[in-house]
Amino acid sequence: MTVRKPEDLRSHRWFGVDTMRGFGHRSRMMEMGFAREEFVGKPVIAIVNTWSDTNTCHSHMRQRAEEVKRGVIAAGGFPVELPAMSVGEQMTKPTSMMYRNFLAMETEELLRSQPVDGCVLMGGCDKTTPGLLMGAISMNLPAIYVPAGAMLRGHWRGETLGSGTDAFRYWAERRAGNLTEDQWQELEEGIARSPGTCMTMGTASTMMSLAETLGMTLPGASSIPAVDSTHAMMAMRSGRRIVEMVWENLRPSDILTEAAFQNAIVVDMALSGSTNAIIHLVAMAGRAGLKLDLERFDAISQRTPVLANLKPAGKYLMEDFYYAGGLRALLARISDLLKLGCITVNGRSLAENIEGAEVYNDDVILPRNRPLSPTGGTAVLRGNLAPDGAIIKPTAAEPHLLKHRGPAVVFEDVDDMYARIDDDDLEVTADSVLVLKNAGPKGAPGMPEWGQLPIPKKLLRQGVRDMVRISDCRMSGTSFGACVLHVAPEAAVGGPLALVETGDMIELDVDARRLHLDVDDAELERRRAGWQPRPAPYGRGYGMLYVDHVTQADQGCDFDFLHAGPPTSEPKIY
Ligand code: FES
Repeated sequence: MTVRKPEDLRSHRWFGVDTMRGFGHRSRMMEMGFAREEFVGKPVIAIVNTWSDTNTCHSHMRQRAEEVKRGVIAAGGFPVELPAMSVGEQMTKPTSMMYRNFLAMETEELLRSQPVDGCVLMGGCDKTTPGLLMGAISMNLPAIYVPAGAMLRGHWRGETLGSGTDAFRYWAERRAGNLTEDQWQELEEGIARSPGTCMTMGTASTMMSLAETLGMTLPGASSIPAVDSTHAMMAMRSGRRIVEMVWENLRPSDILTEAAFQNAIVVDMALSGSTNAIIHLVAMAGRAGLKLDLERFDAISQRTPVLANLKPAGKYLMEDFYYAGGLRALLARISDLLKLGCITVNGRSLAENIEGAEVYNDDVILPRNRPLSPTGGTAVLRGNLAPDGAIIKPTAAEPHLLKHRGPAVVFEDVDDMYARIDDDDLEVTADSVLVLKNAGPKGAPGMPEWGQLPIPKKLLRQGVRDMVRISDCRMSGTSFGACVLHVAPEAAVGGPLALVETGDMIELDVDARRLHLDVDDAELERRRAGWQPRPAPYGRGYGMLYVDHVTQADQGCDFDFLHAGPPTSEPKIY
């Protein structure tokens, strides 16, 4: 390991040089009351913080940034906090996914344009983990991730509630007329009890766990509940460690190897992680110059048991997972499936980081001979309806629907769906296949989480709680149901989904990985000849940039101009 000198620091170009600009940089730091010896010749650490008043999951991260600063200073560094778009899942419209790439660009350019030597990335709510990491990968300064951690368990009338999963479940009961207004309000007050991310194994918990698996957090960091005192300690220790990483010049490119991504896919499957993880891992790997095709996810899924008994696929919540030993314990339990030589941010290998990890509750982290499912949590489908792939989470669906043939009930877009789904005259039965078009990366745009299409009210009243649903959008990682998602190419670019008509027969066979539209080729050609693209949703601004450059789901929905390429030059400082 080479240890760098103060003159090797990137910030030296701003603060260490005897030039007119150097004078300006130093004197303006002094304007803020910082003495020369506090920042000159020291690693300057950017704390990229996605705290905001509208990011409900990051409300503790102002305080955590202070704890990171404590660690940075204790290790001889100089912390600077750089706020970045917080992309809270709940409030950001039309969908947070549209702003993941925005955050990635902002992170990369913040790091590039400022006098910083390394960074602590603070995120957790769904898109913030991939957004921050994508930007940091492209900039490739030493980087460590501080995951926000999950909130405490929800409670209602003696029952434990999980974010998203139980809200969706009880919303169906309310729509079916089985819950009073008072009960619904009690649920609203009891389901989100503390700062932190959704505490099911949704997208946030999945991505934080995968960031740790990839080696970008301190060991064990991703499983700590947001409000636990050890979470504050983890933040402080991350601050200490990033200073050492700068001196060691340990960068994301040293950590995020092909083997590290392979490990992340294995763990995603063992967790029965969010379907969104596939898109984010593909995008993150793309920034690192690596290609992950969907077949690799499927192959790993087929040989990886689901051991995390967590909602929505299982029974427990993230707080239980932490007390059961957390991610380190799960990694130890599947260590034979992992590439243990991968280096992580603490400079040690994955093998060293999981040494001694134990499972304390075999019902939360299941034994290998008693998995929740013998194969992984996500299946990749192909067929004439999804030539570039589609995915489904079989562990979260009613098993009888995993092989199904039924007539399509087609909605042209989300407005059409909400206008008609609860109409008692809608011709739909439990055997129908609900199809939503124009909800993909370009079509919606932003590929929102509309993929768990609501069950029509009249079927809810008959007791139906799951149906086959197909769309080119995503669904929340906390959702459940026989939902075929990420159909590529999407309808808005003329993918076969655009050609489906109500009454067409559709076949889903998850075991055979097949999604088939039972309409002959000549008829499909006839429909294709009459297909017209819809008007562009934006005429200016970021929305237009997004629609013009976002890639399809199987390519990670990154912007085509942000994939790995020749290094971007450092800014000139004159
Ligand atoms: Fe932030 Fe679910 S809303 S993680």
